[in-house]
Amino acid sequence: MDRSFTLGLRGTRVRSFDSGCINPEDLSLSRAAVWVCDEATRQFLPSGADPAVVLSRGESAKNWDSVLKIIDAALSVPLGRDDLVIALGGGVVCDTAAFAASVYMRGCGLVLIPSTLLSMIDASLGGKTGIDHGSYKNIIGSFYPAGEILIYPFLLKSLPEAEYLSGLAEVLKHALLEESSLFADLSSLRKDVLERDVRVLNDLIPRSLAVKGRIVEADPTEEGIRAQLNLGHTFGHALESLLGLGVLPHGLAVAWGIARAMEAGVSLGATDPAYAAEVKDFFEAYGYNLGYRIPDLGTYLDILERDKKRKNGEVNFVLQRRRGDTFLTPLSEELLKKVLTPFSDV
Ligand SMILES: NC(=O)c1ccc[n+]([C@@H]2O[C@H](COP(=O)([O-])OP(=O)(O)OC[C@H]3O[C@@H](n4cnc5c(N)ncnc54)[C@H](O)[C@@H]3O)[C@@H](O)[C@H]2O)c1
Repeated sequence: MDRSFTLGLRGTRVRSFDSGCINPEDLSLSRAAVWVCDEATRQFLPSGADPAVVLSRGESAKNWDSVLKIIDAALSVPLGRDDLVIALGGGVVCDTAAFAASVYMRGCGLVLIPSTLLSMIDASLGGKTGIDHGSYKNIIGSFYPAGEILIYPFLLKSLPEAEYLSGLAEVLKHALLEESSLFADLSSLRKDVLERDVRVLNDLIPRSLAVKGRIVEADPTEEGIRAQLNLGHTFGHALESLLGLGVLPHGLAVAWGIARAMEAGVSLGATDPAYAAEVKDFFEAYGYNLGYRIPDLGTYLDILERDKKRKNGEVNFVLQRRRGDTFLTPLSEELLKKVLTPFSDV
């Protein structure tokens, strides 16, 4: 089944397919195209995907060299401004190809075919493109929404379990941000979701993506409600940093952080305790560990202080009163210690 809808962000069209391959007819290939993939996703290129730029796997591919390879391939066609760069890969491939598309001839056509769960429901949407430089992540980039995002849940079958669960935490998070049937459906279809049932994901992934779409649409320049998408991130990022980047997959840290945000909200008297318990049950039923230990609370609190989302000298935490009712607030050190001490070794 082809599910199709348009998100307001410069009219990005989203289509999702329950097929077992990428069918060239799914794309409007009357236009010339350069495909960009990595070593993991080249196996999914449809016939006729030529030329194809194959990047190496992982974050280190987000660099100028990759951008110049894409531009050289575009020149070899030669691609015009109305033609397409098509990215087939995770957030790394999508961010890099989107950046190249945004600067080639001051911007050419862009189609994203995200191949990790994170990129399907997060990285592909919102228009942020970028590459890394030195130790700076996404320091060179542009704002360039894709004309079209094509979702193929079959691609997720080959994704390593840790990558899948990491992205899935963000899907569950989206279900908390709106009062809709997504939460109930993710609860009742848990077994199918964990088994990566293509037909079930073909329904749930576009609905999860649409949550981000509605939030981004309401706040394209990140001045207001877009911060809601950071639910669990402030607590989670600090644990990720403390343990060393890459030790704890991002989504697992976010799930842990959402549990801490629920406890902080209850401590503050703002979050309905029954809702907080329901959210923790929701994540635990999916197998997330909400009890990771903080090896050193003092250093953890220092990291929170330095959090990049700090504004006017304060760290703003994203909390919820209940599902669909999210707010930002600073938290006192006393409250943080009360919430975090049960999870701390020192
Ligand atoms: N633009 C945005 O708004 C935004 C948002 C979030 C994250 N990001 C960026 O996304 C990147 C992370 O993306 P990611 O988590 O998708 O990681 P990734 O792109 O590095 O992919 C993870 C791994 O999975 C492999 N892979 C990809 N698809 C596969 C498939 N179908 N089967 C088997 N293996 C596959 C990749 O080769 C890689 O080794 C970061 O660079 C981050 O900055 C961007």
